[in-house]
Amino acid sequence: MVDKYSTEIERVMISAEEIAVRLKEVAAKLDEYYEGREPVAICILKGSVVFYADLIRAMKTPVSVEFMKVSSYGFGTESSGKLSVSLDILSSIEGRDVLIVEDIIDSGNTMYALKNMLATRNPASIKIVTLLDKPARRVADISPDFTCFEIEDEFVIGYGLDYAEKYRNLPFVGILKCSVYEK
Ligand code: IMP
Ligand code: MG
Repeated sequence: MVDKYSTEIERVMISAEEIAVRLKEVAAKLDEYYEGREPVAICILKGSVVFYADLIRAMKTPVSVEFMKVSSYGFGTESSGKLSVSLDILSSIEGRDVLIVEDIIDSGNTMYALKNMLATRNPASIKIVTLLDKPARRVADISPDFTCFEIEDEFVIGYGLDYAEKYRNLPFVGILKCSVYEK
């Protein structure tokens, strides 16, 4: 049987095995950082869903599971802007340690706006863990506290990340063939 999307993938950038190894390392760092505490881990839909499910299971720390769906818009050259929240958490985060679980930080605009918005709810702390970081593309003044992989300025799909809502269920992070974008 031909594996899903195999004819559309140019190359695998980070294999499922490499992701699993690195996730264990980052989960151990998070366990160390949150020792004795019980953070609220917020999954940023949809891109983080695969990373989130694997990460919270790799962690030994007990976490509260929450989901948000956000996107940012209205940015010029300024590093502040509007956040569109299409799904919010219902529980209070006041006095709680919040861990934002993101798939990829690109311009940083989304995380910058989300972190500022959550800060108004008076949590004890806010940290960001990201699967991928593309620092070359950063516009907003933000950096993740925990990063699994730093990557070059390339568009990636798989392991939750999409192109036109496809490829999220690939088990690896990869690069698409140019012909896919020409369709
Ligand atoms: P930012 O506000 O520019 O940091 O946007 C981050 C969001 O853009 C991520 O949560 C993704 O949904 C999307 N994104 C950025 N780069 C990529 C990529 O290479 N592949 C897929 N989605 C991406
Ligand atoms: Mg995202």
